[in-house]
Amino acid sequence: MGKIIIEAKDLVKTYQNGKNRLIVLDNINIQIREKSIISIVGESGAGKSTLLNVLSSLDAFDNGELNIEGNNIKNFSDKQLCSIRNSSIGFIFQFHHLLPDFNVRENILMPTWINKDYEKNKKADELLKDFGLKKISHKYPNEISGGEKQRVAILRSIINDPKVLFADEPSGNLDEKNSLKLIDLFESINTNFGTAIVLTTHNPHIANMGSYKYELKSKTLFER
Ligand SMILES: Nc1ncnc2c1ncn2[C@@H]1O[C@H](COP(=O)(O)OP(=O)(O)O)[C@@H](O)[C@H]1O
Ligand SMILES: [Mg+2]
Repeated sequence: MGKIIIEAKDLVKTYQNGKNRLIVLDNINIQIREKSIISIVGESGAGKSTLLNVLSSLDAFDNGELNIEGNNIKNFSDKQLCSIRNSSIGFIFQFHHLLPDFNVRENILMPTWINKDYEKNKKADELLKDFGLKKISHKYPNEISGGEKQRVAILRSIINDPKVLFADEPSGNLDEKNSLKLIDLFESINTNFGTAIVLTTHNPHIANMGSYKYELKSKTLFER
């Protein structure tokens, strides 16, 4: 088994809902290991997005412990959190959020502009070539298909070599053919770069890709 990159222990997450406190995650325990693929299914409203946001340190939690690369992030400053997120974690959301005024290649490179890491230009070109998107590299988001946009968003999420890639319902608005392409893409990222992938999905094919499969139900994670 691979090394643990992210580990949640008895994680509790609540939301304040008017006068009431809504418990969304109740004592979640999960380990995200190097090179694994974790799929999480669950009904709408079960807390899948919340879980991904908490595990990826985008969102705060109420109780329990979250370790990222051996660091208990409880006492991390915002700056430290940003830095560990930048170096270890990638995200893909259901809606790809490509920037309309930048072309495909620029969108992929965007995360590298923060660190002025111009070495990545070469990597972007390799990714575009390897994943068959070279011919659209100078097109703008409104000139490409939904499936292409999603693949561009995925390449953007891995340009900084994250150790873990979180994908929240990545197949949400894709048809069957593009969902299958998405599986291929995730599998080759996982095999070629060793990136661990944690995804939520309603699509049984995508859920089956997981080396670890979970269902989020009654605020708890069950192994499937
Ligand atoms: N920011 C928020 N404030 C209050 N309640 C929220 C917030 N975000 C999500 N919720 C509630 O938390 C529960 C889980 O939501 P979510 O994580 O989006 O579920 P899923 O992704 O499985 O559909 C839902 O009941 C939702 O209404
Ligand atoms: Mg959701």
